[in-house]
Amino acid sequence: MKKFRWVLVALFIVVGGGVLFLPRLIIGRGEANAQATQSALNFRLTEEFCIAPLPVLNPERIAHGKQVYQRECLECHGENLQGQPGWRERLKDGSKPPPPLDNTGNVTHRSDASLLTILNYGLNYGKQSAMPGYQDILTDDEQMAVYEYMKSFWDADFFSHQHSLSASVRLGWVEPAAQGEDANLYLILDNPASYDTRLIGARSEMAEKVEIVDVAGKVLEDVDLPYLTLEINLLPGETHLVMRNLKQTLEVGDRFWLRVRFTGVGEVMTEIKVIENSSTQ
Ligand code: HEC
Repeated sequence: MKKFRWVLVALFIVVGGGVLFLPRLIIGRGEANAQATQSALNFRLTEEFCIAPLPVLNPERIAHGKQVYQRECLECHGENLQGQPGWRERLKDGSKPPPPLDNTGNVTHRSDASLLTILNYGLNYGKQSAMPGYQDILTDDEQMAVYEYMKSFWDADFFSHQHSLSASVRLGWVEPAAQGEDANLYLILDNPASYDTRLIGARSEMAEKVEIVDVAGKVLEDVDLPYLTLEINLLPGETHLVMRNLKQTLEVGDRFWLRVRFTGVGEVMTEIKVIENSSTQ
């Protein structure tokens, strides 16, 4: 009987203790969980926060872009790129008024590839829109200049956000070569976006075609650009690009536009400079 009483006391201590300590255990776990969540969040934040260095805008190109803008875009998008009042609401015919092109609108949520597509083909994917396509109206120089002018209106944070939406070319250069020859072309790429992509091709009016080749000169289909990765280098002595059968001689100091294609991103234009043969070659 005495033994039984002790068992009861022991049970009481265990159960009572359990009841007393359980909330603390739960809260304790809760705190631990909250902390774990917090550190996971921090981790995600640091991991997902990947900002590619911003392109340096060229004052001469901005000035050129301003002329293009005033000639072609001002009447709709406004003197200071402010767009038309009520631009968020559809008009009776189903179209929308021209939106702002500074960072007060939605344009900083569009990647460079998307901006280029809109400028070339307009915005009418089967619906009413007054945005014209400029494919045959503006040269590559004018297209890139007008966008550089537009970007000169964006605050750094918006520009940074826009630039980190997708893969881009940080720097590109080519070695001098004569018409009819091949020329080695090098790129430094960034993929600050949160998805993997691949470089799948490039083209230029300067060459019959542009190919990706490995160290041994074997033609490759693509180059992986893993997400959140900066400085993916296609350099001398590594996988790089080759411009085949040049249509004109490339001399030191020349510049031209190269169109670069990424999976899931689209096509962007990047300026290539002709520079002296690199010593590593
Ligand atoms: C005839 C008027 C008109 C002209 C001229 C015009 N646009 Fe537009 N643009 C529009 C309209 C309208 C829209 C919105 C279309 C829609 O949402 O369907 C638009 C949309 C855009 C967008 C997408 C904006 C966003 O927030 O998604 C860009 C970029 C743009 N225009 C750039 C230009 C540039 C650069 C020029 C000059 C080269 C130009 N537009 C000339 C009417 C015009």
